[in-house]
Amino acid sequence: EERVAPGHQPAGPILVGHRGAGGTAPENTVAAFKEGRSSKADFIEIDVQLSADGVPFLFHDDTPARTTDVEDVFPGRASDPITSFTWAELQQLDAGSFFDERFVGERIPHLDDAVDVATRTTGVYIEIKSPSKSPGIEQLVADQLLTDPSWRKLVAADKVQVIGFDVASNRRFAELAPQIPLQQLTGAVPGDAELAALAGFADSVGANYRTLTGADVDRVHAAGLAMSAYTVNSPEAVQAVVDLGVDAVTTDFPVQNGRYLRGL
Ligand code: G3P
Ligand code: CA
Repeated sequence: EERVAPGHQPAGPILVGHRGAGGTAPENTVAAFKEGRSSKADFIEIDVQLSADGVPFLFHDDTPARTTDVEDVFPGRASDPITSFTWAELQQLDAGSFFDERFVGERIPHLDDAVDVATRTTGVYIEIKSPSKSPGIEQLVADQLLTDPSWRKLVAADKVQVIGFDVASNRRFAELAPQIPLQQLTGAVPGDAELAALAGFADSVGANYRTLTGADVDRVHAAGLAMSAYTVNSPEAVQAVVDLGVDAVTTDFPVQNGRYLRGL
């Protein structure tokens, strides 16, 4: 087993840059990852899917319509599943100009582009997005995290976490890579019986902050799980979830909220 000193451990709640820093840079691009890193967030969050030819790429939506110039490059394919594009096709899309012309030329990243930006301060939350549309993605991501030297180093420094909404997919991932912390995403925090079942394979629960209560946070903690809240953008909302006792906060604005929380 590789031995590396643990990564930076914050005093307050863990700060996670959503899609890198989706509020101030085009989501799920290297520009957004660098923005998240510059904030010294504890993690950046990314969404991974598999291309038609099996390459892990970083993208949130089910189609290229909202965040790319697909209509210019592949007219008529804006509503096609993003997973129906090959890696070579994905590389032809501009994933920055939808956000601002300053980001023209940003490409859809490969999974490994995220580890290249990561540091022992800023690790990576990897969301396995819509796994039913990317068959085999759990095995592929687990293999990559456990065999690639850069990912292995980040895992050993405790700076990689896998997250996802799909319980069956999460169970599968936990079996393949039990050493990697796993977060079950959910809208609202489920009941105690379900929390007990989740505790069998997950380390934390990530819930929508809008419906979150102090009682929810206490129940998650009582089940032996850590509590994470998404996607919390204003400093007032960040303060409110911190007051509820959450362990991690995911935000589109890690620079601004990092300053607010830690004076970074
Ligand atoms: O961190 C959880 C959050 O990323 C889940 O929602 O739709 O932004 O992937 P979504
Ligand atoms: Ca996500």
